[in-house]
Amino acid sequence: MSEPVLKFEDVHTYYGPLHVLKGVNYELYAGEIVCLLGGNASGKSTTMKTVLGIVKPSQGKITYCGERIDRLDTSQIIERGIAVVPEARRVFPRMTVQENLELGAFIHRSDKRGLQESFEHVFSLFPRLKERRNQLAGTMSGGEQQMLAMARALMCRPKLLCMDEPSMGLAPSFVNQVFEIIQQINREGTTIFVVEQNANMALRIAHRGYVLQTGQVVLSGPARDLLGTELIRQAYLGEV
Ligand SMILES: Nc1ncnc2c1ncn2[C@@H]1O[C@H](COP(=O)(O)OP(=O)(O)OP(=O)(O)O)[C@@H](O)[C@H]1O
Ligand SMILES: [Mg+2]
Repeated sequence: MSEPVLKFEDVHTYYGPLHVLKGVNYELYAGEIVCLLGGNASGKSTTMKTVLGIVKPSQGKITYCGERIDRLDTSQIIERGIAVVPEARRVFPRMTVQENLELGAFIHRSDKRGLQESFEHVFSLFPRLKERRNQLAGTMSGGEQQMLAMARALMCRPKLLCMDEPSMGLAPSFVNQVFEIIQQINREGTTIFVVEQNANMALRIAHRGYVLQTGQVVLSGPARDLLGTELIRQAYLGEV
Protein backbone atom coordinates (compact mmCIF):
# COMPACT_ATOMS: atom_id res chain seq x y z
CA MET A 1 0.00 0.00 0.00
CA SER A 2 1.16 3.57 -0.62
CA GLU A 3 2.45 5.81 2.13
CA PRO A 4 -0.23 7.27 4.41
CA VAL A 5 -1.06 10.97 4.11
CA LEU A 6 -1.27 11.16 7.90
CA LYS A 7 0.01 8.72 10.44
CA PHE A 8 -0.13 8.81 14.25
CA GLU A 9 2.09 6.26 15.99
CA ASP A 10 1.63 5.68 19.71
CA VAL A 11 0.76 9.35 20.33
CA HIS A 12 0.33 10.53 23.93
CA THR A 13 -0.73 14.03 24.94
CA TYR A 14 -1.21 15.79 28.27
CA TYR A 15 -2.82 19.00 29.49
CA GLY A 16 -0.73 19.52 32.61
CA PRO A 17 -1.27 16.34 34.61
CA LEU A 18 -4.27 15.23 32.53
CA HIS A 19 -3.32 12.35 30.23
CA VAL A 20 -5.68 12.71 27.24
CA LEU A 21 -4.44 10.72 24.24
CA LYS A 22 -3.04 7.44 25.52
CA GLY A 23 -1.07 5.90 22.73
CA VAL A 24 -3.27 6.39 19.66
CA ASN A 25 -2.53 5.13 16.16
CA TYR A 26 -4.31 6.47 13.09
CA GLU A 27 -3.52 6.08 9.40
CA LEU A 28 -5.22 8.05 6.64
CA TYR A 29 -4.57 7.28 2.98
CA ALA A 30 -4.87 9.63 0.02
CA GLY A 31 -8.44 10.09 -1.12
CA GLU A 32 -10.05 8.72 2.02
CA ILE A 33 -12.74 10.16 4.28
CA VAL A 34 -11.94 8.90 7.77
CA CYS A 35 -14.24 9.69 10.67
CA LEU A 36 -13.29 9.92 14.31
CA LEU A 37 -16.09 9.04 16.69
CA GLY A 38 -16.22 8.99 20.47
CA GLY A 39 -18.07 10.28 23.48
CA ASN A 40 -17.57 13.64 25.14
CA ALA A 41 -14.05 14.25 26.46
CA SER A 42 -12.65 11.18 24.68
CA GLY A 43 -9.94 13.22 22.93
CA LYS A 44 -11.42 13.98 19.50
CA SER A 45 -10.75 17.72 19.50
CA THR A 46 -7.37 17.07 21.10
CA THR A 47 -6.57 14.82 18.15
CA MET A 48 -7.36 17.68 15.75
CA LYS A 49 -5.26 20.12 17.78
CA THR A 50 -2.42 17.62 17.82
CA VAL A 51 -2.47 17.31 14.01
CA LEU A 52 -2.01 21.08 13.76
CA GLY A 53 0.70 21.20 16.43
CA ILE A 54 -1.41 23.30 18.82
CA VAL A 55 -0.99 20.44 21.29
CA LYS A 56 2.40 18.71 21.18
CA PRO A 57 2.67 14.98 21.84
CA SER A 58 4.75 14.01 24.86
CA GLN A 59 5.49 10.68 23.20
CA GLY A 60 4.98 9.13 19.79
CA LYS A 61 5.32 10.27 16.23
CA ILE A 62 3.15 12.04 13.63
CA THR A 63 4.06 11.92 9.96
CA TYR A 64 2.48 13.70 6.99
CA CYS A 65 3.30 12.21 3.60
CA GLY A 66 6.32 10.56 5.17
CA GLU A 67 7.64 13.70 6.86
CA ARG A 68 7.71 13.98 10.62
CA ILE A 69 5.59 16.99 11.64
CA ASP A 70 5.06 16.67 15.39
CA ARG A 71 7.91 19.07 16.15
CA LEU A 72 6.89 21.71 13.61
CA ASP A 73 5.07 24.97 14.38
CA THR A 74 1.43 25.27 13.43
CA SER A 75 2.24 27.66 10.57
CA GLN A 76 4.77 25.22 9.13
CA ILE A 77 2.20 22.43 9.35
CA ILE A 78 -0.39 24.54 7.51
CA GLU A 79 2.18 25.36 4.83
CA ARG A 80 2.62 21.63 4.22
CA GLY A 81 -1.03 21.43 3.12
CA ILE A 82 -3.08 20.63 6.21
CA ALA A 83 -6.15 22.70 7.15
CA VAL A 84 -8.47 22.43 10.12
CA VAL A 85 -12.04 23.59 10.55
CA PRO A 86 -12.12 24.05 14.33
CA GLU A 87 -14.84 23.11 16.76
CA ALA A 88 -17.60 25.73 17.00
CA ARG A 89 -16.68 27.22 13.59
CA ARG A 90 -14.61 30.14 14.72
CA VAL A 91 -14.95 32.80 12.05
CA PHE A 92 -13.82 36.38 12.60
CA PRO A 93 -17.19 38.02 13.36
CA ARG A 94 -16.21 41.64 12.66
CA MET A 95 -14.69 40.84 9.32
CA THR A 96 -16.60 40.33 6.12
CA VAL A 97 -16.98 36.98 4.42
CA GLN A 98 -14.40 38.02 1.86
CA GLU A 99 -11.88 39.13 4.51
CA ASN A 100 -12.30 35.83 6.36
CA LEU A 101 -11.59 33.97 3.14
CA GLU A 102 -8.53 36.10 2.38
CA LEU A 103 -7.12 35.23 5.80
CA GLY A 104 -7.61 31.56 5.01
CA ALA A 105 -5.36 31.99 1.99
CA PHE A 106 -2.59 33.78 3.87
CA ILE A 107 0.03 31.23 2.90
CA HIS A 108 -0.62 32.00 -0.77
CA ARG A 109 -1.00 35.75 -0.30
CA SER A 110 1.70 36.63 -2.82
CA ASP A 111 0.14 34.46 -5.51
CA LYS A 112 -2.59 36.72 -6.93
CA ARG A 113 -3.73 34.30 -9.61
CA GLY A 114 -3.81 31.38 -7.18
CA LEU A 115 -5.86 33.52 -4.80
CA GLN A 116 -8.35 34.29 -7.55
CA GLU A 117 -8.64 30.58 -8.38
CA SER A 118 -9.19 29.72 -4.72
CA PHE A 119 -11.99 32.30 -4.53
CA GLU A 120 -13.63 30.88 -7.65
CA HIS A 121 -13.32 27.35 -6.28
CA VAL A 122 -14.90 28.10 -2.90
CA PHE A 123 -17.60 30.29 -4.43
CA SER A 124 -18.54 27.44 -6.76
CA LEU A 125 -18.86 25.12 -3.73
CA PHE A 126 -20.65 27.73 -1.63
CA PRO A 127 -22.61 30.08 -3.92
CA ARG A 128 -24.27 31.69 -0.91
CA LEU A 129 -20.92 33.00 0.29
CA LYS A 130 -20.44 34.75 -3.01
CA GLU A 131 -23.78 36.55 -2.62
CA ARG A 132 -22.85 37.45 0.96
CA ARG A 133 -19.21 38.30 0.49
CA ASN A 134 -19.54 41.81 1.93
CA GLN A 135 -21.61 40.72 4.93
CA LEU A 136 -19.99 40.70 8.38
CA ALA A 137 -19.32 37.07 9.29
CA GLY A 138 -20.78 37.52 12.78
CA THR A 139 -24.18 38.37 11.31
CA MET A 140 -24.42 35.15 9.28
CA SER A 141 -26.58 32.26 10.51
CA GLY A 142 -24.94 29.32 12.25
CA GLY A 143 -25.15 27.19 9.12
CA GLU A 144 -23.72 29.95 6.97
CA GLN A 145 -20.85 30.42 9.43
CA GLN A 146 -20.10 26.70 9.19
CA MET A 147 -19.96 27.03 5.40
CA LEU A 148 -17.63 30.00 5.80
CA ALA A 149 -15.36 28.10 8.19
CA MET A 150 -15.11 25.25 5.68
CA ALA A 151 -14.54 27.64 2.79
CA ARG A 152 -11.85 29.49 4.70
CA ALA A 153 -10.01 26.21 5.35
CA LEU A 154 -10.20 25.38 1.63
CA MET A 155 -8.69 28.73 0.61
CA CYS A 156 -5.20 27.35 1.30
CA ARG A 157 -5.92 24.39 -1.01
CA PRO A 158 -5.16 21.71 1.56
CA LYS A 159 -4.28 18.12 0.74
CA LEU A 160 -5.66 17.07 4.12
CA LEU A 161 -8.75 18.72 5.59
CA CYS A 162 -9.54 18.05 9.26
CA MET A 163 -12.97 19.01 10.56
CA ASP A 164 -14.17 19.08 14.16
CA GLU A 165 -17.91 18.40 14.33
CA PRO A 166 -19.00 20.24 11.19
CA SER A 167 -22.66 19.36 11.75
CA MET A 168 -22.90 20.60 15.31
CA GLY A 169 -25.95 22.72 15.98
CA LEU A 170 -27.15 22.71 12.38
CA ALA A 171 -30.68 22.03 11.18
CA PRO A 172 -31.07 18.79 9.21
CA SER A 173 -31.14 20.49 5.82
CA PHE A 174 -27.83 22.23 6.55
CA VAL A 175 -26.35 19.00 7.91
CA ASN A 176 -27.16 17.30 4.61
CA GLN A 177 -25.56 20.14 2.68
CA VAL A 178 -22.42 20.02 4.81
CA PHE A 179 -22.06 16.27 4.28
CA GLU A 180 -22.63 16.63 0.54
CA ILE A 181 -19.96 19.31 0.32
CA ILE A 182 -17.54 17.14 2.31
CA GLN A 183 -18.05 14.39 -0.26
CA GLN A 184 -17.58 16.81 -3.12
CA ILE A 185 -14.34 18.17 -1.64
CA ASN A 186 -13.18 14.59 -1.22
CA ARG A 187 -14.02 13.72 -4.84
CA GLU A 188 -11.82 16.62 -5.89
CA GLY A 189 -8.91 14.78 -4.25
CA THR A 190 -8.74 16.08 -0.67
CA THR A 191 -8.22 13.57 2.11
CA ILE A 192 -10.65 14.19 4.97
CA PHE A 193 -10.40 13.53 8.71
CA VAL A 194 -13.73 14.37 10.33
CA VAL A 195 -14.79 14.30 13.98
CA GLU A 196 -18.50 13.69 14.37
CA GLN A 197 -21.10 13.05 17.05
CA ASN A 198 -23.49 12.25 14.24
CA ALA A 199 -22.05 8.74 13.83
CA ASN A 200 -24.76 7.48 11.54
CA MET A 201 -24.26 10.16 8.92
CA ALA A 202 -20.49 10.27 9.26
CA LEU A 203 -20.19 6.52 8.73
CA ARG A 204 -22.40 6.74 5.65
CA ILE A 205 -19.99 9.09 3.89
CA ALA A 206 -16.71 7.83 5.39
CA HIS A 207 -14.54 5.07 4.04
CA ARG A 208 -13.13 4.13 7.44
CA GLY A 209 -13.58 5.13 11.05
CA TYR A 210 -11.96 5.11 14.46
CA VAL A 211 -13.76 5.10 17.79
CA LEU A 212 -12.04 6.78 20.75
CA GLN A 213 -12.85 6.03 24.35
CA THR A 214 -11.02 7.97 27.08
CA GLY A 215 -8.05 8.59 24.82
CA GLN A 216 -7.69 5.13 23.32
CA VAL A 217 -8.84 3.69 20.02
CA VAL A 218 -11.25 0.92 20.95
CA LEU A 219 -12.55 0.14 17.48
CA SER A 220 -11.54 0.87 13.91
CA GLY A 221 -12.27 -0.40 10.46
CA PRO A 222 -14.26 0.13 7.29
CA ALA A 223 -17.21 2.44 7.91
CA ARG A 224 -19.65 -0.20 6.69
CA ASP A 225 -18.44 -2.68 9.34
CA LEU A 226 -18.55 -0.06 12.10
CA LEU A 227 -22.14 0.81 11.29
CA GLY A 228 -23.06 -2.77 12.12
CA THR A 229 -21.21 -3.10 15.42
CA GLU A 230 -23.04 -3.24 18.72
CA LEU A 231 -20.86 -0.55 20.34
CA ILE A 232 -21.71 1.97 17.65
CA ARG A 233 -25.35 1.03 17.57
CA GLN A 234 -25.77 1.39 21.30
CA ALA A 235 -23.48 4.29 22.07
CA TYR A 236 -23.95 6.51 19.08
CA LEU A 237 -27.03 5.57 17.18
CA GLY A 238 -29.27 5.37 20.22
CA GLU A 239 -30.36 1.84 19.42
CA VAL A 240 -30.51 -0.76 22.17
N1 LIG B 1 -6.79 23.34 27.09
C1 LIG B 1 -7.11 22.36 27.94
N2 LIG B 1 -6.67 22.37 29.21
C2 LIG B 1 -6.98 21.37 30.07
N3 LIG B 1 -7.76 20.31 29.77
C3 LIG B 1 -8.24 20.27 28.51
C4 LIG B 1 -7.96 21.28 27.53
N4 LIG B 1 -8.59 20.95 26.38
C5 LIG B 1 -9.24 19.79 26.62
N5 LIG B 1 -9.04 19.38 27.90
C6 LIG B 1 -9.57 18.14 28.51
O1 LIG B 1 -9.13 17.03 27.73
C7 LIG B 1 -10.15 16.06 27.61
C8 LIG B 1 -10.41 15.76 26.14
O2 LIG B 1 -10.98 16.93 25.55
P1 LIG B 1 -11.38 17.02 24.01
O3 LIG B 1 -11.76 18.41 23.77
O4 LIG B 1 -10.29 16.43 23.19
O5 LIG B 1 -12.63 16.04 23.98
P2 LIG B 1 -13.66 15.71 22.80
O6 LIG B 1 -13.58 14.25 22.52
O7 LIG B 1 -13.45 16.64 21.66
O8 LIG B 1 -15.07 16.01 23.50
P3 LIG B 1 -16.42 16.72 22.96
O9 LIG B 1 -17.21 15.64 22.28
O10 LIG B 1 -17.10 17.14 24.23
O11 LIG B 1 -16.05 17.85 22.05
C9 LIG B 1 -11.34 16.60 28.38
O12 LIG B 1 -11.37 16.01 29.64
C10 LIG B 1 -11.07 18.09 28.46
O13 LIG B 1 -11.62 18.66 29.62
MG1 LIG C 1 -14.57 18.20 20.84
